[in-house]
Amino acid sequence: MQTIEITLNVNGKQQTLAVSSNDTLLEVVRDHLDLTGSKEGCGEGVCGSCTVLLDGHPVRACLTLALEADGSAVTTVEGLAQGDILSPLQQSFIDHGAVQCGFCTPGMLMSATALLTGNPSPDRKAVRHALSGNICRCTGYAKIVDAVEHAARPAPGCPDCHAKDTGGSHD
Ligand code: FES
Ligand code: FES
Repeated sequence: MQTIEITLNVNGKQQTLAVSSNDTLLEVVRDHLDLTGSKEGCGEGVCGSCTVLLDGHPVRACLTLALEADGSAVTTVEGLAQGDILSPLQQSFIDHGAVQCGFCTPGMLMSATALLTGNPSPDRKAVRHALSGNICRCTGYAKIVDAVEHAARPAPGCPDCHAKDTGGSHD
């Protein structure tokens, strides 16, 4: 099949890639760039597990053609940490027990990252709205909402935020 050259800035690194006209952005990041944090769940735009940021906006990478992303900045979950230092949001997911099987987590993190960039102190309603396109089969969502709500603004009454302050257990 004929390939077309595109350029993407992926997690701050410029990439030139030969893609087919029907390659999705998800296939490109996972198969061409070996960034396998973004997950393919439904493959049809329903579950949100493939969510990445395209020029700062969350998109379904399974529904986005790589050609559409040509010239854009793409952030995947691999771009959130600084080396071994997790982003405050990633750390908050751990502190609040918001990760169980982890399959939904990369997509959740990317949707929440976009929210927090525009609104560092979201209330629960705003968090739920931002995550409404991300499905989790394990957690019941409450801990995920806690993690996002408290990521930039630890809550005095939250035992998980408190455990982080004191170094205590989160169990
Ligand atoms: S894999 Fe893209 S929305 Fe489910
Ligand atoms: S932690 Fe398993 S699907 Fe969300």
